[in-house]
Amino acid sequence: MEIIMYSEKVMDHFTNPRNVGEIEGANAVGQVGNPKCGDIMKMYMKINEETNVIEEVKFKTFGCGAAIATSSMATELVKGKTIDEALEITNSAVAEALDGLPPIKMHCSNLAEEAIHAAIGNYYESKGMDTSHLKCGDGCSCCGEEHEGCEHGHGE
Ligand code: FES
Repeated sequence: MEIIMYSEKVMDHFTNPRNVGEIEGANAVGQVGNPKCGDIMKMYMKINEETNVIEEVKFKTFGCGAAIATSSMATELVKGKTIDEALEITNSAVAEALDGLPPIKMHCSNLAEEAIHAAIGNYYESKGMDTSHLKCGDGCSCCGEEHEGCEHGHGE
């Protein structure tokens, strides 16, 4: 059996995940599922409506160790950022911040990027703002379906 090696940071965020839980009165909530394995992540944010800064963020993930570690790191990365800065965070940036993930577990990091987009999409929708730039055109793992050539780079 092949043994998968994780970085110390992955193990740290898996065994001691940051920002676990829910935020009462969150104004941005997004839930996404990983179509490859069925794992689920829900992200809660409190966004300052004047500055667009994400002041608080928490998550709940029903998933593998890599999904929990990437969720935890993603919340650390978005906290204190503006919405626009948070939307720039990719799944590979989250994986890099954890000193990498084994290739076989890279798909787990998609949940983190997608949950950020889903939560911010929920915030935009609640304000009646356009969310089309947050979504892929044809459906992909961001949207719950697989397809080639996803503009977010993880539809393969
Ligand atoms: Fe499902 Fe990792 S195996 S997110």
